[in-house]
Amino acid sequence: MSVPPPGLSPSFLPYGRQVIEDDDIAAVVEVLKGDFLTTGPTVDAFEAACAKALDVPYAVTCSSGTAGLHLATLALGLGPGDAVVVPSVTFLASANCAAYVGADVAFADVNSDTGLMEVPHAEAAAARAGRDRVKAIVAVHLNGHCVDVAALASAFPGVPIIEDACHALGGRMRGGDQAWHTVGACPDSAIAMFSTHPVKTIATGEGGVMTTRDPVLDERMRRMRNHGMVRDPERFTERDRAFDSKGAANPWYYEMPEPGFNYRLSDIHAALGIRQLAKLPRFVAARRALRARYADRLDRLCPHIRALPVAAGCEPSWHLSVALVDFAALGIERAAVMNALRAEGIGTQVHYAPVHLQPYYRATHPTPELPGAAAYYARCLSLPLFPTMTNADVDRVVDALARVTGVG
Ligand SMILES: Cc1ncc(COP(=O)(O)O)c(C=O)c1O
Repeated sequence: MSVPPPGLSPSFLPYGRQVIEDDDIAAVVEVLKGDFLTTGPTVDAFEAACAKALDVPYAVTCSSGTAGLHLATLALGLGPGDAVVVPSVTFLASANCAAYVGADVAFADVNSDTGLMEVPHAEAAAARAGRDRVKAIVAVHLNGHCVDVAALASAFPGVPIIEDACHALGGRMRGGDQAWHTVGACPDSAIAMFSTHPVKTIATGEGGVMTTRDPVLDERMRRMRNHGMVRDPERFTERDRAFDSKGAANPWYYEMPEPGFNYRLSDIHAALGIRQLAKLPRFVAARRALRARYADRLDRLCPHIRALPVAAGCEPSWHLSVALVDFAALGIERAAVMNALRAEGIGTQVHYAPVHLQPYYRATHPTPELPGAAAYYARCLSLPLFPTMTNADVDRVVDALARVTGVG
């Protein structure tokens, strides 16, 4: 994303992009010159830094956010016959993690203005699937805005919640204890999952981080990201093969109680992650300031264009800056607006088309109409937002949006 697509000027503003500085590059080079490119100490150091920053006992890295979601459904032991409640307005991976383990996806509607799943939406989806079959809920913090995880936890006692916090690194939300918590601290959830893809708040190229307060889930996720291998002698079950005649564990020995995957993050990625994580407060402050400017400028274009409203109980880190544009009332197609903005050097995106309408899920999990998801999808437009943008860039985007839509 750092290089504009062919034919576009260097002043092109993509909807999101990474910020890589000299010290990030130096940290990667140092690992490249060292002994461990993978399974080395830099991964451990990145995990320790994540756990500290997110105020949680366990952080497990992996090769992508998608791999992290898969590890979460594996660690929770989900499988055929189980149902997982997932909001329909999200990235494909939030739902696919249930499909990977053979569980059913119960698609939930969302608030038409925030795009967030609320308790009544989850209740309706659970009722359709059969409440007893619901064995997990994926709470998606869309745009960096937080779902009310505490409310979901009290509405579904005993049902583990996976926070898909890909968009919410650096945010804070109110927990069931009424205190404010860093997103990822898991006060009310089983697992929280982050992506470090370049458009996210920090970048490692590809990568994911899962956090949990539960040592059992931590162990399972670590094991399943590394082929399902067990190396702890205390857990070996094949005593004859595991130990020598003196009772010491054979140095080469490992066991595999169930097959896992290679979902490891490399030390090269982790080196970048450590440097990027140190910059999280700066990145989030910049995003918040830019989003405030957007909100101010967009709200002058009401009622047909406005900024996403801020949900209660949340201090968002703003992964995306979404405008709600009433394309129908304006009598203009979204594609025409996006193409016109692109011609002015402004990249936009749509986050997201409802996942229950994907051909695979239409065929396998037919879902009734979800009006909130439809209304949100019809109006959402993600505008450029990344920490190195300036206020002048924001003004340029909003002025162009007003011009191409004929508003203001
Ligand atoms: C909400 C959400 N969930 C999951 C993912 C998957 O993350 P990754 O691209 O790191 O696999 C993404 C990435 O775009 C996402 O936005």
